Order: sequence, then structure tokens, then C-alpha cells
Amino acid sequence: MKFSHAPIEKNATLLMVLSLLVVSIGGIVEIAPLFYLENTIEEVEGVRPYSPLELKGRNVYIREGCYTCHSQMIRPFRDEVERYGHYSLAAESMYDHPFQWGSKRTGPDLARVGGRYSDEWHVQHLLDPRSVVPESIMPAYSFLAETDIRTDNIASHLEANQAVGVPYSDEMLENALVDLKAQADPEADGAFDVAERYPGAQIRDFDGNPERLTEMDALVAYLQMLGTLVDFSAYQAEENLR
Ligand code: HEC
Repeated sequence: MKFSHAPIEKNATLLMVLSLLVVSIGGIVEIAPLFYLENTIEEVEGVRPYSPLELKGRNVYIREGCYTCHSQMIRPFRDEVERYGHYSLAAESMYDHPFQWGSKRTGPDLARVGGRYSDEWHVQHLLDPRSVVPESIMPAYSFLAETDIRTDNIASHLEANQAVGVPYSDEMLENALVDLKAQADPEADGAFDVAERYPGAQIRDFDGNPERLTEMDALVAYLQMLGTLVDFSAYQAEENLR
């Protein structure tokens, strides 16, 4: 028997009901598997949770609204990749709560600013942007160098991130305060442990004042690690083979 569409096409209600049925099946097939996946982000080697000092710096970045002028998302367009480096991978912001993507840029994208300038440059730029970039319209943040980091609540910051899925271990929580201080002091007993717990963490006095642990230390530590966790020389070579 030949199946004819005619009755369906002549009956608007029947056509609508059947269309809806077909569309819902398609929708379920696409969406349902996502609920059974542990993680929809492809993991990339090198990406790790923020160290306590970097996390403090990130909090300063958010508090001061740096995101209103700066994005942290390099899009896969030629002009962006040539200016900023390899386009951002989803995994690179998998531990960001909240993430700092965005498309509005008054200043440049900062996703890979880590290592591009010296600590001294960052400190000088934050103290007085126009002293290094005369035409800059960026505000000065000189008070950061005069503001000690609040240290008593660092473990709670790690815990809050852990609650939303960042894999901080119990050991990391226990040592949060020690790690916070040790990352800015290479002479400290705990400096070696910081590098062990947070591979690739840069350990040094960031603000040029070893006497104090300031918000400038934290912010520069954060800026200097942005985009440095993934080794793109290996990544690029693999991509070129495809
Ligand atoms: C009113 C907008 C504005 C705000 C807010 C702002 N910036 Fe900027 N930023 C700029 C502009 C414009 C530039 C480019 C000129 C320059 O280098 O100063 C810039 C440049 C930079 C650079 C150099 C980037 C590069 O690749 O050359 C860094 C790092 C930076 N800003 C960090 C910050 C941080 C950290 C904060 C928050 C504490 C912040 N900015 C807040 C506008 C802003």
C-alpha cells in the first residue's frame, strides 16, 4: 500500500500535532545525552584551580570592575589570534566562577597577558597607567599597593569555589593561608609546597615590596598567570597534524 501524505497536509491540526512530535523527538535526542555527561568541557592538560594568591587577585579584579573594560576570551578570528595568541579554549575558564568572557573591550583582551610584561611594568601601570602608556584612559589603582590582603577568609573562598565544583582538595583548604603567604615569598618554608600543589604557580614577591602582602601582589600574580597554564606549542603541533 502506498502511504499518502494527503490526509496530513489537508488537516492543519493533525499536521501541527505530528510536526510537534517529530520536533520533540529530535530535541530529546540532542539534549538528553547532555544530562548524562559528567562534563561537557574537553579537559586540557595544565589547567588547574587558582592558587590562593591568584584567587585573591581575581577577586580584586572582579571587585574593581576590570571586566567592564577588559575581556578574557580570544575569539577564533585571525585578527584576534594574531594580536593575542591562540584562541581561548573552554577548559581554560572551567574553574572560573564567574567567568570573565565578554565582547566589549575598551582595553585589550587579557586572556593571555601573563608573562607579556614584567611585574614592574604591571605595578607601574596600575599605579599610574599614563606613566607607561601616555595615551591610556585606564584609571589608576595605586591604593592596591597600600592595601594589605585580607587573609583570614581565604579558606572560605576556596571552599565556596569547591561548592560549585572546583576540585580543591582538603589539603589545599587546610594550607590555604600558608600557601597564600608563601607564593609571594620565595624564602618561606612553604614555597616549595605551593608549586607542588599548584603546578606552574609563579613564586616571587610581585609588588616590589617584600615587607608587605598587598592586593597589588595578588592582582599581579593573577595577571601574570593568565593564559600561561596550557602549553600551546604542544597543542599547536597536534593541530597542525590534523
Ligand atoms: C575605563 C576602562 C578600563 C578599566 C576599568 C581598566 N582598564 Fe586596563 N586598560 C584599559 C585601556 C584603554 C588599556 C590600554 C592602554 C594601556 O595599556 O593603559 C588598558 C590596558 C591594560 C593592561 C595592558 C594590556 C596589554 O596587553 O597591553 C592591563 C594588564 C590592564 N589594563 C589591567 C587592568 C586591570 C587589572 C584593571 C582593574 C584593576 C583594569 N585594567 C581596569 C582600560 C581599562
